[in-house]
Amino acid sequence: METGRLSGKVAVVTGASRGIGEAIARAMVTEGAKVVLASRKIEALTPIAEELSEHGEAAAIACHIGKPEDVMAFRDAVLERFGQVDVLVNNAATNPYFGPMMNLEWRAWDKTFDVNLKGTFAMTHWVAKHLIDRGAPGSIINISSVLGLMAAPLQGAYGMTKAAVLSMTKTLSAELGPSIRVNAIAPGLIDTKFASALTSNDEIREMILSQTAAKRVGQPEDITGAVIYLASDESRYMTGQTMIIDGGWL
Ligand SMILES: NC(=O)c1ccc[n+]([C@@H]2O[C@H](COP(=O)([O-])OP(=O)(O)OC[C@H]3O[C@@H](n4cnc5c(N)ncnc54)[C@H](OP(=O)(O)O)[C@@H]3O)[C@@H](O)[C@H]2O)c1
Repeated sequence: METGRLSGKVAVVTGASRGIGEAIARAMVTEGAKVVLASRKIEALTPIAEELSEHGEAAAIACHIGKPEDVMAFRDAVLERFGQVDVLVNNAATNPYFGPMMNLEWRAWDKTFDVNLKGTFAMTHWVAKHLIDRGAPGSIINISSVLGLMAAPLQGAYGMTKAAVLSMTKTLSAELGPSIRVNAIAPGLIDTKFASALTSNDEIREMILSQTAAKRVGQPEDITGAVIYLASDESRYMTGQTMIIDGGWL
């Protein structure tokens, strides 16, 4: 059901080719936003953007957020196509290593920090600069994780980057206010390819569910309502905050 809560806004969603990012892009088009879907693989993005274009306006543009030159080319392509950006959803992330921190190799460390932290900031930096240059209000939404709020055994580097994203959210909300708002969402266990190492492991999944009031793994659509709220003017007095959506795990 479309209610037009994002009518007139242009939104960029990174990591939109599947999982939570795809669900966010779908919900944003339904709410009337023009949406740029970004990820590394254009062949995965294009069919989704084409389908969404039947209901509104959507474009697929490839971008590896961990590569600064890619981010700059992406910025140019987005502004050439749409002329403006009002909402950024920093959703893309990576987690290349699953294991104890004592065995973590620098290669995995670098990739995790380059994409999850540097990439998130690189995207935020150009969008915020664009908004400041335009004198326009904007909303930046960072998809962090509950693993940024608690110990993250076997996912230590990932957890550190997600904790740092929450720090970035708070600092930028203070520095970019009043017109640019920056908030975060910390999902719990959500049923996506990203989390398959956890959801397909009976022992880990049941251990998490035993601590989760909702007693189920979340679905990507469980996250989209909060994103629409944070992207829309309904959340105009909210910035620097983290919404935890974890079925009661924490
Ligand atoms: N699933 C969970 O349980 C869970 C829990 C808490 C937080 N989160 C967070 O939610 C967000 C989305 O995760 P998800 O579960 O939906 O994962 P997913 O289904 O695996 O999707 C990840 C998306 O990110 C893109 N991506 C990966 N590396 C990229 C890069 N370097 N540059 C640009 N795009 C890149 C992927 O597309 P390409 O391969 O085409 O690049 C894909 O579209 C992440 O920030 C994750 O940390 C997930």
